[in-house]
Formats: sequence, C-alpha cells, structure tokens
Amino acid sequence: MLILGVETSCDETAAAIVENGTRIVSNIIASSQSLHAKYGGIIPDKAAREQLKSIIPVIYEALAAANLSPDSLDALAVTVGPGLIGSLLVGVETAKSLALAWNKPLIPVNHLIGHIYANWLGGQTPDLPALVLIVSGGHSELVLMKNHGQFKYLGGTRDDAAGECFDKCARLLNLGYPGGPAIEKAAVAGSIHLPRPLIHENNLDFSFSGLKTAVANIKAAEPSHVAFALQEAVSDVLVKKTIKAAAKHKVKSILLAGGVAANKHLREAMTEAVLHLGGKVSLSIPPFSLCTDNAAYIASAAYFNNHPTFPTKIDAAPDLAIK
Ligand code: KG4
Ligand code: ZN
Repeated sequence: MLILGVETSCDETAAAIVENGTRIVSNIIASSQSLHAKYGGIIPDKAAREQLKSIIPVIYEALAAANLSPDSLDALAVTVGPGLIGSLLVGVETAKSLALAWNKPLIPVNHLIGHIYANWLGGQTPDLPALVLIVSGGHSELVLMKNHGQFKYLGGTRDDAAGECFDKCARLLNLGYPGGPAIEKAAVAGSIHLPRPLIHENNLDFSFSGLKTAVANIKAAEPSHVAFALQEAVSDVLVKKTIKAAAKHKVKSILLAGGVAANKHLREAMTEAVLHLGGKVSLSIPPFSLCTDNAAYIASAAYFNNHPTFPTKIDAAPDLAIK
C-alpha cells in the first residue's frame, strides 16, 4: 500500500511516499527555518506564506522522486494538528483538494502520533505496549501506546516544552536558532549545575520554564558550559520520568520521538538508563533525520491508523491533543 503523506504544521513543508508504513519511497522537505533564524523564532504568518509557495512543488517532487503518478497512490494522509493554524491550513486544504481531484481516500493524522511512527521507519518493529516520550518544539509528553490506534496521555509539561526551553535558552545565550542543535553544538563540560524541575515528584509531569530563568540568572559564565549543563538537566529529568513511567506501566519497549530526540546527549542518557533495566525493556530511537518534522512519519502513522475521512469533513485542528 502506497500512501502520500503531507506535513505543514510548523515551518517545514513536507511530502513523502511510504510503502506499507515502513519503507520510505521518497521524502521531500522544504524548510523556511533560515528565514526565521534572523528573528530568533518562528514568525507564524511568514511560515504560512512560505508553505503556500512550496506545497505544490514539494508534493510533485515527492511523486517525481518516487517515479510515480498520482494514479498509483492508494491514499493520501495529512497532518491536521496540532500546529500553527496558518501553516496547517495550507497542507490540509491542499490535501483535501488533491484527494478529491485524484479520487483517493484521505487519512487525517495527529502530528504527535505521527512523530511516534518515525520508530517504524528505521528498519525495526518496536514491541508493544510501549512507553513513548514525545519531545518536540511545542510538546513534551509521556504517552502509553498499547497498540496501534490506542494511545493514552500519561503526563506532560506544565509550561515550556523541552525543545522550547532549548530554543529560548539558546536565544539568551546568543547561540542562534533553532536552539536545540545550537545548544548541542556549543556544549562543553564545565562546573555549572542547573536544577532538575519535578524530578523527584510523584507524577509524570515536566516543567522547564524555571530552567530558562535559571539560565537567565547565571552571570559571567561560559555559554558553552551553560549549554552543557542545560542539556544534562533536561535529559536527566526526561530520562528519569520516562523510566518511572515505563516501570509503572510494565511496557515492553520505550520509544523516543520528536525533534529533541535528535539530541545525542539525550539518546545516550536514555540508552544507558534502559541498559540498567537489564534487558527487560527494549529502546527504539528514530534515525536522526526522521526525528524532526517530515511527512514520512505522517504516511506511516496513516498506514497503521487507517481511518479515511471524507475530505469536506476534515478541518485543521491547531489544538489537537492525545487524550
Ligand atoms: O519535532 P520538531 O521538529 O517540531 C515540532 O513539532 O515542534 O521539533 C523541533 C524542536 C526545536 O525546539 C528544536 O530546537 C529541537 O526540536 N531540536 C533539538 C535538536 N534538533 C532539534 N533539540 C536538541 N538537540 C537537537 N539535536
Ligand atoms: Zn513536530
């Protein structure tokens, strides 16, 4: 089964064709990130305008790269939310029009659930039930995945997301945008220690906004040392809470998902923590390039959660959540 996925929730315009939810046939991404870099953050209406310019060329490039015509597709899939309303509308309305014109089913996809399926695109099949840590620019959530189509929200951030914390702190440290990769690149071990918010509390929630304040209050420190301490503090909290949730729900595996899952420090810290569980739980981490926004995981999520909806019944949903 060939699905064409479309993703436009933020500043990436992406289209990809995936076979049977696991094999990437083509994967095209146009990003307006460099345009936002000079402002130190995303300007929503500029992002939406760029989406509009790129969407049709990107979709046709995905078909051309796969050497396929629209006829050979079995379905289309599109991110309906969460995300920026202007950006989402471009992908949703385009996918609706194309599904009607090409006479193909259209499968609406939750962007956060999409992120999870990057774990099915790296050549492995994770064991279920799984405990998923979704860490992106807008979300930091722990989700129990009992099976395909069965997702339960267990806890999440009460304020800033992990990626947002990296982005805001990178800005304070003058390290550039997006902040996560900038912090990772700058990080050099020093002697700074930052707080680990909520780490010992008996819940599965996170809070990262205080770290931003802590970083702002550090005077006369090497930005590279602060970057290192920040990576350590964020990873430490994410890993501890994930392991706690995995034990509580007796899962077979732990999955990482979202842009922050590209962080090497987090990947290593999680790998080590899972090793300490003594082989009872396996760990799946998506390939680096599939952690940040793309349409391949949208097509994959649609394959495993195949609920086509008539195009005129689909609307962009900026606040869509996992319940
Ligand atoms: O999942 P994503 O591409 O977009 C959203 O759905 O939000 O995540 C983007 C976030 C940004 O906050 C970015 O700074 C962060 O992921 N990020 C990283 C790394 N690469 C991207 N954070 C830490 N280390 C990285 N290597
Ligand atoms: Zn994302």
